[in-house]
Amino acid sequence: MTEDEQKQAAAEKAVEYIKDGMVVGLGTGSCAAKMVDLVGAMVAKGLKITGVPTSEATTAQARSLGIPVVGLDEVNVIDLTIDGTDEVDPQGRLIKGGGGAHLREKIVASLSDRMVVIAEAKKKVAQLGAFKLPVEVIRFAAPALQPRLEALGSTPTLRLAKDGTPFTTDEGNYIYDCDFGKIDEPEDLALTLSTMPGVVEHGLFIGFADIVLIGTDAGVEVIEI
Ligand code: A5P
Repeated sequence: MTEDEQKQAAAEKAVEYIKDGMVVGLGTGSCAAKMVDLVGAMVAKGLKITGVPTSEATTAQARSLGIPVVGLDEVNVIDLTIDGTDEVDPQGRLIKGGGGAHLREKIVASLSDRMVVIAEAKKKVAQLGAFKLPVEVIRFAAPALQPRLEALGSTPTLRLAKDGTPFTTDEGNYIYDCDFGKIDEPEDLALTLSTMPGVVEHGLFIGFADIVLIGTDAGVEVIEI
């Protein structure tokens, strides 16, 4: 199976968790995009759901497929969020934010009764950290935060857009991709980053995933956390 087919298989399994009437958090990224396509097809066949997209890109995709979408001003509870990941460890801890959407993704996940994570096989790792940890920062604070992120033991690189200017998130912030190497204590690092003034959000998602669906050559591995 190609990576694309693994993503598709995980996405197909994930949409089985969607039931009529649900409010569904719609993730961001290439794997999540496959799930949104499938949801669009289900809506076209009569499924009634309300989507809460986690990025402008997903909002545009969902709207183009006819999926009703709302913001957080219109929903109290999100029944289920389905989203991709950049890494997932055996405890269901995640690194997200490769696409720069982890701020909204984490907010939506935090409001959700259940989070289903979908990914291709290579995203399943024994220990987090091979993927550089995205840390979203207020632009004003960016120059001051670089040495502070270095002091935590990382090599931070300001993410750039294709035109060479700093990449700007949907919320207008910058991202440092921080190479910490293998992360021994993700909980400690998450807490430290969360308490740094100027850091808006980091890509460590701990305690969010309920079900992880990994597309593999042998089928979809279902991991209940
Ligand atoms: C978006 O910022 C990310 O959190 C994505 O969900 C994550 O990077 C996975 O994306 P892919 O499915 O494209 O690898």
